[in-house]
Amino acid sequence: MVETVTHDLIILGAGLAGLRAALEAARLYGKKLNIAIVSKVQLMRAHSVAAEGGTAAVLRPEEGDSLELHAWDTVKGSDFLADQDAVMLFVQEMPREILQLEHWGLPWSRRPDGYIAQRPFGGHSFPRAVFAADKTGFFEMQTLYDTLQRHADVTRYEECFATTIFVEDGRFRGLMAIEMRTGRLLAIRGKALIIATGGAGRLYGFTTYSQTVTGDGLALAYRSGIPLKDMEFFQFHPTGLVPSGILITEAARGEGGYLINNKGERFMERYAPQRMELAPRDIVSRSMITEIEEGRGYPGPNGLDYLLLDLRHLGKEKINERLPFIRELAIKFAGIDPIEEPIPVRPVSHYSMGGIHTDIRGATPVEGIWAAGEAACVSIHGANRLGCNSTAECLVWGKITGEEAGRYAESHDLLPLSSGLVEDEERRLLSLLNQDGQESPYAIRRELQEIMDTYVGVFRTGEGLSTALERIKKLQERARRLRVQDKGRIYNTDLTTTLELLNMLEIAEVVVAGALARTESRGAHARRDFPNRDDERWLVHTLAYRTPEGPRLEYIPVRITIWKPVERKY
Ligand code: FUM
Repeated sequence: MVETVTHDLIILGAGLAGLRAALEAARLYGKKLNIAIVSKVQLMRAHSVAAEGGTAAVLRPEEGDSLELHAWDTVKGSDFLADQDAVMLFVQEMPREILQLEHWGLPWSRRPDGYIAQRPFGGHSFPRAVFAADKTGFFEMQTLYDTLQRHADVTRYEECFATTIFVEDGRFRGLMAIEMRTGRLLAIRGKALIIATGGAGRLYGFTTYSQTVTGDGLALAYRSGIPLKDMEFFQFHPTGLVPSGILITEAARGEGGYLINNKGERFMERYAPQRMELAPRDIVSRSMITEIEEGRGYPGPNGLDYLLLDLRHLGKEKINERLPFIRELAIKFAGIDPIEEPIPVRPVSHYSMGGIHTDIRGATPVEGIWAAGEAACVSIHGANRLGCNSTAECLVWGKITGEEAGRYAESHDLLPLSSGLVEDEERRLLSLLNQDGQESPYAIRRELQEIMDTYVGVFRTGEGLSTALERIKKLQERARRLRVQDKGRIYNTDLTTTLELLNMLEIAEVVVAGALARTESRGAHARRDFPNRDDERWLVHTLAYRTPEGPRLEYIPVRITIWKPVERKY
C-alpha cells in the first residue's frame, strides 16, 4: 500500500547543495511554500561533511586577486571544457556566499589581523581557499543545518530512499520513496524538484567517498529522460591515504607539504616545475602514476603502490593548527603521525565532473526539475575541477536553484499524478523484494568497482575501456537475477543496496561509453592511445540519453565567451 503526501517543492539530497537550496527557498518563499527535504541518510550524514580543505572565493582584490583570475584559473584548469558564462556567474556569486555563511555563524579560520584566512590550492594562482581548519565541509554543513532549524516549515524525510521520479507529459509530478524506518512506500507529489544527491564516487573501490555515494540521483534523472553530461570526466585526487582511500586534503600541500618518490625526490619538478605539488589534480595524479609505473614508488598492499606526502618540515604547531584532522586520520587509519613520518598516498577516485545536464540556472530539460551540486553538470568544471570549487559550486547553485525552483512552485499549480505510474513502481519494488535469483548485489558491486579501478582510472586505453564496457554489460545481465535475502520491510538495507547497485551499473555504463567514444586526452580523461587534446573534434560536451540498448551519445558546443583554448602549462 502506497501512502501519498504532497508538497510544493521537493529537495532530494541533503548535502551542501540541498541544504543551501532549502534555506534559500525557505528564506524567499517559506510562508507560501510547503517545502520537503528527502534524504536517504540522516540530515548531517551527507558526504559533504567530509569535505576538508576549503571553499574558493575571491575576497582580496586589494592584494592581487580578482574575479577574472578565479574564472581564468577555473577555465584553464577545466582544459577549456567549462562553459565560460557559467564560470563567470560562479566567481561573481562566491564572495557573497562566504560572507553569508559568516553571518550565519560559520567559524572560518582567521588571519592574525582577524580577517578571514585563505590558503593556496592546486591550479589557483592566488591563495583563495577559505577554510575552517581541515573540516570545512563539516562546519559548512553544521552552519546550514543550524540555520535551517529556524524554518519550521521545511518537512524532513530522513532515511527515505527515492526509487523513481514521476514525469508525465514532460513535467515533473512527484517521486516514490521507501521510508526505511517503517518500510512504507511514499508517493511524494510536488510541483518542483531539486536533485542534489551528490556524485557517484563509489563506482570505484579505491575512493575518498563514503559508501552512500552511489549516483542515485543521476540514475533517477537518466531514467526519467534527462541526459547526463560529460560523465567520462572523473577526477582522481592525488592524495588518497593508503590503504583506506580516505582523503588527505590538498591543503596539506597548500600549507607546504611535499610529494616524494622512493629516491627522495620532489618529483613534481619534472612535470610542473612552476606549480610543483600545487599543479591541478589531473596533472599531479598522472605524474604520480607515472612515477609508480616507472618504479619510483613504494610497494603497497593489494597493488596500492604509493608515494609519500611529507609534512614534517611544517612543524608540529602548524600541523596541529591547520591540519589537525589529517593528523588524526593518518594516526588512526595508517598508524602514522605526520609530525614524525611521511604519509603513504596515491591517486584516488574523488569527484564526478559530469552530471545531470542543466542550463546556467540549474534547470534540466524536464519542466519542474532542477539539479545542483555534484549531481549536476552546469558546467563549470569541464574536464578537470580545481580544488575548493566544488563546495563553492554547491553553495552557489544551491542558492540559485532554491530561488528558481521556489519561484516556479509558487507560480504553478500541482498537476495530477497518474495512479498507474505509482502502481507500476510499487509492483517493480515488490517484485525485486520477492525475487529469488542467485546473484549477490554485494558481489556484483565489488566486481564493478574492480572493473572501474582497473580500466577506467587515471590513464585509459580503448582496449581497456572496451573490456570494461563488455564486463559491465555482463554484470547488468547478471543483475536481472539478483537475490534480496532480507524479505522484511524495516530498514531493509539489502533492498536499498540492490537498488543502489542497479543505479551504479547504469551510471558506470555511461561513464565508460563516453570515455570510449572520446578519442582524445583532455583534463582527467587521459587516453594512452590518443594522448593529445583535439579541439577540432572534441571541444564539445557529451550528452548521454538512456535507450534500452544503452546510452545514446550526442554532443553540444562548449560556451566560450572570453578565452580561446590554449596549451595548458603549469
Ligand atoms: O583536498 C581537498 O580538501 C578537497 C577539496 C575539493 O575536492 O575541493
